[in-house]
Amino acid sequence: MTGTSPLNTINLREGIGLPLVLLHGFPLDVRMWAACAEALPPGVSAIGVDLPGAGHSDLDGAPPGLEHSAERVHDTLRGMGVGNAIVVGLSMGGYVALALADLYPGFVAGLGLVDTKSVADAEDARANRHRIANAVEETQTVDAVLGMPAALLSPTSVTERRHLFPLLESWIRSQSPAGIAWMQRAMAARPDRTPVLEKYDAPVAVVVGEHDALSPRAQAEHMVAAAKKAGADVTLTEVPDAGHMAPVEDPATVAAALTHLHERVRNREHVRSRRR
Ligand code: MLT
Repeated sequence: MTGTSPLNTINLREGIGLPLVLLHGFPLDVRMWAACAEALPPGVSAIGVDLPGAGHSDLDGAPPGLEHSAERVHDTLRGMGVGNAIVVGLSMGGYVALALADLYPGFVAGLGLVDTKSVADAEDARANRHRIANAVEETQTVDAVLGMPAALLSPTSVTERRHLFPLLESWIRSQSPAGIAWMQRAMAARPDRTPVLEKYDAPVAVVVGEHDALSPRAQAEHMVAAAKKAGADVTLTEVPDAGHMAPVEDPATVAAALTHLHERVRNREHVRSRRR
């Protein structure tokens, strides 16, 4: 333990054995994982975490950095008695999951990388994040990110899953401007973590919405290729008719991929324990 303050967590599913730890995307919070956790089979436990500055988790004065987010996730779970876990992150949550695998490889028994990427930002994307961070601070509103649902959802979700657009908007409206600014600056500062995957040898599940415009399939394939270099047991699931919010748009398909990841990790742990 390094003395960071605990983050807000929710036991989304009770179960036994290794839990799935579900990390949300930006600018959302743990609520985005509720439907997917609900679709998990009985016995698989899932803990949702609000990342620093999101939902009910505070900022603790640390400078922006996803390494700090990873440290607080780790310390929070260790404080709950969780010795290791299958860490699953959507987009920003995936960046934090990779930071956790980098800093605490023994803690991360399996990795779920959903609608995310391992590479760092290009210069223009980084500049845009700083522009948004400054705007939310200046206006003390979340207006600068309120347009995001249109980019997050697939065309099918916008026209046929009509409740999702206002739902995402309401989640975004409830976030704090200070948290949004901190997370944007933290994401802007993140390094390329492809090398982390290149040496990560536990099971990995990469999941991508067919129409994910923000972390498209090419990014998912890049992560799969990196994980294969370490000899990891890696799967790629494309979620039809979903965009960047696959666990919200098609919870059952993402839950099935995570259940399969859970089984693979359990089998690997079983084999390893018999060898000891
Ligand atoms: C997210 O969904 O977390 C964001 O799209 C991440 C990002 O801005 O890179």
